[in-house]
Amino acid sequence: MNSEAIESAYALLEESIMTFRGEPVGTVAAIASGDVAAENYHDCFVRDFVPSALVFLADGRYDIVRNFLHTVLQLRSQHQRIHGHGLEPAVLPASFRVTRGKDGREHIRADFGDHAIGRVAPVDAMLWWVVLLGIYCRHSGDREIAAEPEIQRALRGVLELMLREGFEVFPTMLVPDGSFMIDRRMGVYGHPLEIQALFYGMLVSAVDLLRDTPEVHELIALAEKRANMLRNYLQLFYWLDMERLNEIHRYRTEEFGSSSVNMLNIYPESIPEWVIDWLPHRGGYLVGNLGPGRMDFRFFALGNLLAILFGITSHHESQRIMHLYQDRWDDLIGNMPAKLVFPAVSGKEWIFMTGSDPKNVPWSYHNGGNWPTLLWAFVAAAMKSGRGDLAQLATDVADHALPEAKWPEYYDGRRGNLIGRRAHLNQVWSATGYLFAHKLLENEGLLDLFAAVDSPPRGGARQGDARNPSSARPDGRG
Ligand code: GLC
Repeated sequence: MNSEAIESAYALLEESIMTFRGEPVGTVAAIASGDVAAENYHDCFVRDFVPSALVFLADGRYDIVRNFLHTVLQLRSQHQRIHGHGLEPAVLPASFRVTRGKDGREHIRADFGDHAIGRVAPVDAMLWWVVLLGIYCRHSGDREIAAEPEIQRALRGVLELMLREGFEVFPTMLVPDGSFMIDRRMGVYGHPLEIQALFYGMLVSAVDLLRDTPEVHELIALAEKRANMLRNYLQLFYWLDMERLNEIHRYRTEEFGSSSVNMLNIYPESIPEWVIDWLPHRGGYLVGNLGPGRMDFRFFALGNLLAILFGITSHHESQRIMHLYQDRWDDLIGNMPAKLVFPAVSGKEWIFMTGSDPKNVPWSYHNGGNWPTLLWAFVAAAMKSGRGDLAQLATDVADHALPEAKWPEYYDGRRGNLIGRRAHLNQVWSATGYLFAHKLLENEGLLDLFAAVDSPPRGGARQGDARNPSSARPDGRG
């Protein structure tokens, strides 16, 4: 272990703590280091706070996590102000900052995507909030917070919003482009894996947190049913290995009716060349996105790692994802763990997919960059799958380079060997991801933090049910 690195990571974490009227309520995304920093990097982002929270919880610093959970919730009232009629009280902000008003008092201003670059909707924020609440309750033993009326209302609000009937025929959730960690146009609209994994994690957590509330039994039953269908659907239709690729390669198309096998009408011609030679026989993974006539074969790291952590994949599938990591180590870990998305898109595809976004040029940032913050999720998923050896190897890769480079936000290049051209230094979730990874390696018991999310809901649909999109509808109607 590199103790200087640990010290340096802790120093950054301490410096990043954001206070509001004397109380610690979050951590800022990055500490300015003299170079150009985007204006909103002084905000506390909900998703960036997650690895900070894991470190705080592991250290028994429960207060700050509790304050954060309350603070985010109180900000919902600002959303009602933006929309005038308060129609979406369940929506939580992507980030918030503390400002000082003319009266000299501190205020908090939230960003619901109404300030964010590209005005993207932070759908993941409310999902992470519920997941983190579940983790906090279980780890701290503080079940009382879940019984607070405001928290109960919020949980119900999130569930009602997410389970509301829409135009969908799948149990997955439909979202616009850039609605999660990849918060730019990257062809991740529709049913991106990361959102589906978080959606599942949210449902399981919410069911557990609302279990003692008799008046919401119907909502809980609906959430349980949806979680089961979602898990089956992800396992059946997002899973890709050589056997499945062969099936898709020989798919019949234009099938109509309830007995169709290729029910999403995926054309074999859409299989990209790279995947055929890249996918090792013993490996497998969940594809990045799925919709009518569309399978995005790219490998998205966080969605796959969360799927392992939240128990969406079976133990066998989790091991196969780890085999993929082992056999394609240079591509998926390289010189800095871990690749966010593999492979990068380039040429015309890049022009159409990103709108010619210079930040997302091939093998940079969201388009095939390497993100040190993913280390915690990789280490946790590897250890859960019995691959402590891979967890150790990845941490060794990060050990010297990352603190020496001052905790860059991301790395560029096919193997991630260049510090990202526009990456911020002193990026807090790079340091907290590293810290939490080390804590896990030292104490496997910390995996228990995720037990709050990793307990399949009761009852539920049989696997075969999900083959039929009508029976996979949340309301059971076809
Ligand atoms: C970038 C990332 C986003 C992150 C934010 C703050 O916008 O894409 O995921 O939350 O920076 O670090």
